[in-house]
Amino acid sequence: MKNVEKTITGNVDPDVLDYTVGDDPILDRELVKWDAAGTAAHVTMLSRLKLPKGVPPVVTPAEATKVRRELAVVVKEFAAGKFEIREADQDVHMAVERRLTETLGDLGKKIHTGRSRNDQVAVDVRLHIKDQLLALEGEVAALADALIAFGKRHALLPLVGRTHLQPAMPSSVGVWASGHAEMILDQVANLEAAYVINDRCPLGSAAGYGVPLPLDRKLTSALLGFACPLHNVFGASMARGEDEAALLSALAQLMAVLSRLAEDLILFSMPEFAYFRLPREYCTGSSIMPQKYNPDVLELVRSKAAIVLGLQTAALSQLHAMPGGYNRDLQDSKGLYMKGLSVTRTTLRILAKVVDGVSVDEAKLRAGFIPGVFATDAALRQVAAGVPWREAYHDVRDHLERLETEDADKAVRAKRHLGATNGLDWNLYRRRIAALRADVAKRRRAFSAKITALLG
Ligand code: ARG
Repeated sequence: MKNVEKTITGNVDPDVLDYTVGDDPILDRELVKWDAAGTAAHVTMLSRLKLPKGVPPVVTPAEATKVRRELAVVVKEFAAGKFEIREADQDVHMAVERRLTETLGDLGKKIHTGRSRNDQVAVDVRLHIKDQLLALEGEVAALADALIAFGKRHALLPLVGRTHLQPAMPSSVGVWASGHAEMILDQVANLEAAYVINDRCPLGSAAGYGVPLPLDRKLTSALLGFACPLHNVFGASMARGEDEAALLSALAQLMAVLSRLAEDLILFSMPEFAYFRLPREYCTGSSIMPQKYNPDVLELVRSKAAIVLGLQTAALSQLHAMPGGYNRDLQDSKGLYMKGLSVTRTTLRILAKVVDGVSVDEAKLRAGFIPGVFATDAALRQVAAGVPWREAYHDVRDHLERLETEDADKAVRAKRHLGATNGLDWNLYRRRIAALRADVAKRRRAFSAKITALLG
C-alpha cells in the first residue's frame, strides 16, 4: 500500500501534501477570525435562500444561529490556544469545517454548500487586509504626528538645506521634519487606492464560476461590511493576487519614503554632521569597538524597504503569466502580503519612536552655515537693487570669496512664502493628521460593528 495521508479532499502523498500545504497552517492563523466571519455571513445567507417550493432549506435560521455561536466559540478557543490548524487540515478553511463537524455533526458538513475555498480564502484575505490597513493608516498618522511635533519644537532652527548632499541654501529643522511628514501623509492616497480595491466582496463567486443556487451575494457583502460585491464571478477569482499586489505596491512606495527619512537621520546623526542625536538606547554597539553607538535600527529600515519592494516584485511576477481562474500559485501571495504588512507596520512604529527620541545640537546646526550657503540670497539682494538675475548670479559666482557667513536665523525668517521656512502652515498638518485619524476611527467602528453582529 502506498504511503498517503488522509485529508478531507482525498489521500495525498505526504511529501506532496507538505509541499502544497506550505506555510498555510502558520499563516492562516492570521485568518481564523476572518474565516469565521466569512462563514457566519455565508451560513446566514444560506438560511435565507429563496428556494423553489418543496425544496428543503440548506440550513434553517435556527441552524444558522447555532453555527454562528459555534464559530464565535472557535474564535475564542483559538485565542486561548485551544484550536489549531493541522497539516492534514491543509488550511484554516478545512480546519474550521472539521471543528464545526466535530461539534455540530451533519450541520457542520453543510456550511460549505455553494462555496469554494477559492472565494472563501479571498474573502478572508480581504477582511484581514482591511483590518490591517486601518491599523497601518493609524500608524502612518502617529509617525506624521511625531515628525510634526519634532518640527514644531524646532520650527525656525536653522539647518543647511542640501542638494547633491552639498550645502545649498538656508533651511530649517521645521522644513526638514514637516517635509518628511508631508511625504508620508501623501502616501495615504496610495493606501486608500489599495483599500478601495480591497473593499469588495468575492464571496459567492465560489470556484470562480458561480453555482446553481440563488445566492444573495449582496447580502453577504453587506453583512461583512464590504462596499459592494465583486460583480463578475470569474473576475472575482482573478482579483485574488491583484488585490495583494495593489496593497504591496502601496506598501513598497510608503517604505521607500520611510527609508529616505531613515537615511537622513543616519546622515545627520553621524559625528561628522552631528546635527541630530539618537538616544543612546536606540543605538546598538559593536562586539570589538567599545566606542560604537550605531544606528542599526535605521539601517534596517533601509533594508526593509528593499524587502517590501522585493515582495511587490514577487507578487507581480507571480501574476503576470498566470492563466485566468484559480491557480495554487495564489496561495503564495498570502505570505507575501502578510510579510509586507507586518514589516511596514513595525517600521512605522519604530520610526515614530526614534523621531520622538531625536534631539538636536543647535551649535552644530549653525556651524554648518558656511558662506556659500548665502550665495543665492546675496544675488537676490542685487536683484532687489535692480540688477537682472543672471547678471547678479554671475557677479556672485565670479566673486565667491566676497561671500560672508551671515545671520542664519535672519535668512531662515526671510523666506515667508507658502511652505518655506517662515511660511509653513502647521495647522494644515494638524488638520490632515486629525482628519486621517477620524476617518480611520469611523471606518473601524463600522467594520467592527459588522463583525460583532456576526460573531458576537
Ligand atoms: N489554502 C488555499 C489557498 O490559499 C485555499 C484554496 C485552495 N483551493 C484549491 N482549489 N486548491 O489558496
